[in-house]
Formats: sequence, structure tokens, C-alpha cells
Amino acid sequence: MRLETKRLILRKPRLSDWKDIVEGCKDMEVTRYLAIVPYPYKKKDAVWFIKDCLRKWIKKEQTAYPFFIELKSEQKVIGVIEIFGYTRQHKVCETGSWINKRYWKKGYITEAKIAVNEFAFNKLRVRKMETGVYEKNKASNATQKAIGYKYEGTRVKHHITRSTGKIHDEHIYGLLREDWKRNFPKLKKKLNEKIKKLTK
Ligand SMILES: CC(C)(COP(=O)(O)OP(=O)(O)OC[C@H]1O[C@@H](n2cnc3c(N)ncnc32)[C@H](O)[C@@H]1OP(=O)(O)O)[C@@H](O)C(=O)NCCC(=O)NCCS
Repeated sequence: MRLETKRLILRKPRLSDWKDIVEGCKDMEVTRYLAIVPYPYKKKDAVWFIKDCLRKWIKKEQTAYPFFIELKSEQKVIGVIEIFGYTRQHKVCETGSWINKRYWKKGYITEAKIAVNEFAFNKLRVRKMETGVYEKNKASNATQKAIGYKYEGTRVKHHITRSTGKIHDEHIYGLLREDWKRNFPKLKKKLNEKIKKLTK
């Protein structure tokens, strides 16, 4: 299973990806808004994570699809985007993601999320996608809004982050299939224009 976009390949993990995962996750600016990622982040943590993701890909009733985000131009994993909590009964799923700080603000998570949303709505046939974002996480709150997710409410003091021990309020965002279908062409056009500008 793999999804391909202009600049990225979204694929299953490989054990050899551990160095790239450590490079991304050893940065506190990345881990401080992720619930269960330890700090400091070591090789053993990356190996555990990769094996855990591989297990999810071979589960009989698959409920999670962790995609490793490979940057084609560098053949390097620069982040992860995961569909989880997929239920056939309710036809919903959630997503979570991160990008290595060196690659922020280049539209990579937008590009990856467009591909993953298309997969979830068209192949898994979900009706709705959700994302939970810490209230203080400016980048991720902005990302959800930019992609067309709507704010639905706040879960007060919902998480204790593993890396910092801090308690966070969590914003819940939802994206309905009908809204996605309507916004998708506009979003794709905006991303293509951004990529053109970045590569000028
Ligand atoms: C959140 C994160 C994944 C965004 O990745 P990215 O590849 O830099 O995001 P993009 O470049 O695709 O930008 C997406 C949108 O968010 C905006 N954005 C990105 N970083 C921002 C910031 N620090 N402040 C305000 N807006 C920001 C972009 O301008 C863009 O909006 P636009 O299309 O209207 O211009 C990245 O910052 C990250 O990994 N953070 C740490 C881990 C994390 O917080 N994960 C999410 C947990 S819910």
C-alpha cells in the first residue's frame, strides 16, 4: 500500500527508517504537542514505533493506517501521518501527524493530508474524519483550518503529554465528506500554486 503525490510517497514503514524517525522526534518542538512520544527520543523508541506501525498494517480488522512520509527528492522519511480509530460501523476515523522541523512550512503536511483524506473518503468510504489538536498548538490548529476541518469543541484538560508532563486542552476538529468533496479542488489548486512558488 502506498499513496503518491507530487513531492511525497506515503508508504508502510521499514525498519531502516529508524534514523529518520529519531531525527524528527528527538526535537522537543515536535514532541511537545504529541501525546505519547517520549523525550529524549532514542533508537529503541523508533524501532518500537516502527514495529508497532507494522503490526497495525497486518491486523485482520485493520483500524489504523500509519503512513510514513517519504520526501521523493531526498528519499528520506520526513514525518508520519496516521489514520486511526477507523470503524466500519460508524464510518469515521481520526488522523494524527508530525513533520521533521527542518521541513516545516513547505506545505508537506497539507500535501500528505490531501492524499490521506482522499484515501479515507474514497477507499475506506468514511463519512467523517476527526483530528484532536492541543489548544496551544498554533501550527496544527492553522493546518486543520487550512484544510477545511471545522472546530467542534474543546475537551478540557484532556491529555498529559508524555514528553513534558504538561496538561493540555484539546480542540476537536471534524471534516464531513460533503464538505471535503466541495473544497477539494480549491485546496488542490492552492497547494499547487504554493509548490510552484517554493520551487521557483
Ligand atoms: C503541525 C505540523 C504537522 C504542520 O506541518 P507543515 O508541513 O509545516 O504544515 P504546512 O506547511 O502544510 O502548513 C499548513 C497550514 O498551516 C499553516 N502553518 C504552519 N505552521 C504554522 C505556524 N507555526 N503558525 C501559523 N500557521 C502555520 C500554514 O501557513 C498552512 O496554512 P495556509 O495553507 O493557509 O498557508 C508541524 O508543524 C509539526 O509537525 N508540528 C509538531 C507536531 C504536531 O504538532 N503535530 C500535530 C499534532 S495535532
